[in-house]
Amino acid sequence: MRDLGIITDAGVLCREGRIAWVGPMREWRATLGPDDGELDASGMVVLPGFVDSHTHMMFAGSREKEFALRAEGATYQQIAEQGGGILSTIGHVRAAQKKALKRQTAAYMNEMLRAGTTTVEIKSGYGLDMDTEVRMLEAINELATEELMTVMPTFLGAHAVPPEFAGRTGDYVRLLLETVLPYVGRKKLARFCDVFCEKGYFEISDAERILSAARSLGMDLKLHADELSPLGGAELAARLGATSADHLERVSAGGIAAMRGAGVVAGLLPGVSFFLNHGYAPARALIDAGVTVAIASDFNPGSCMSYSMPMMMTIACTQMHMTPEEALTAATLHGAAALGLARDIGSIETGKRADLLVANVPDYRFLAYHFGANHIRTTVKNGTILEF
Ligand code: NIG
Ligand code: FE
Repeated sequence: MRDLGIITDAGVLCREGRIAWVGPMREWRATLGPDDGELDASGMVVLPGFVDSHTHMMFAGSREKEFALRAEGATYQQIAEQGGGILSTIGHVRAAQKKALKRQTAAYMNEMLRAGTTTVEIKSGYGLDMDTEVRMLEAINELATEELMTVMPTFLGAHAVPPEFAGRTGDYVRLLLETVLPYVGRKKLARFCDVFCEKGYFEISDAERILSAARSLGMDLKLHADELSPLGGAELAARLGATSADHLERVSAGGIAAMRGAGVVAGLLPGVSFFLNHGYAPARALIDAGVTVAIASDFNPGSCMSYSMPMMMTIACTQMHMTPEEALTAATLHGAAALGLARDIGSIETGKRADLLVANVPDYRFLAYHFGANHIRTTVKNGTILEF
């Protein structure tokens, strides 16, 4: 993770949306054809586009009141128990039309491109009924074709138990297994299935049934694991061969070993610990054990109202003791690995998609070091140049 393969005085050639050549500047001119345009990045840093491998960025309404309550000492769980939290967003999303969901999400996606994110995973999970979950997934899939950014859709029907099923988790799990999941699978609405495995949400046994069913419908697996309590989500993700287990603030030593053994990517979410002030995932232990560590924003109105990948890198460095190099790898190539896309995106290599950022900084470390500023001058997505 610490070897970025930096080339000083480099040139990149992009053709038909892909990287056709990368190497030293003195050899670059010879690769150009008569029709190739040029983009001058002298004195700046060129890096791969950020891959935000975990978001809940399709939502409606907002939760600044909860933010204020937490400032006065309330916890995320207390707010959830009083009917706030995920359930308050559910109400807004159920009332929103597909067009409105798409419009807000597309607007955020444009802001994210400006901040350097070129690939994003988006979860459903604010509907928790057949109609709204399907509406969210359809909207996410439509954005995937209409927008420039690469979008990976994830089904998170098991995000919370909806109010009409309060005290009847088993019945809600049955609805997911018998009705919603088979439809999502048949219509190919999601590449991944995810479960929020947590006390008061879904137990290990529920998560195992849902994810196994999703697997048999052709979906790859993700898990919100060991965030608030060490339930053994990491071990479950390893047992099921999940692509990633995310959060992991409370992961056990056994969970880390199991993830390493099974090749499960650890999707760490520094912004959540920062925003909820609830302790950080053991990034050092995970990296030192040889687990592939990604960082993502978790962008959502409750636990992290930020999509800034450089901000996540800063928090990873200052609070989780990741080096700037590790943070950059985690935000790019390892994010791609968390989405099963590492062969196609996440680094500047011949044959990969031309997803590049030009950052107006003298050194790549400034991305994390000079925090709270947007240093991205140009975003190249699939070879399309966006100058800001
Ligand atoms: O990843 N942990 C569960 N879900 C989200 C929070 C969503 C919300 O609060 O709206 C998360 O942190
Ligand atoms: Fe999440």
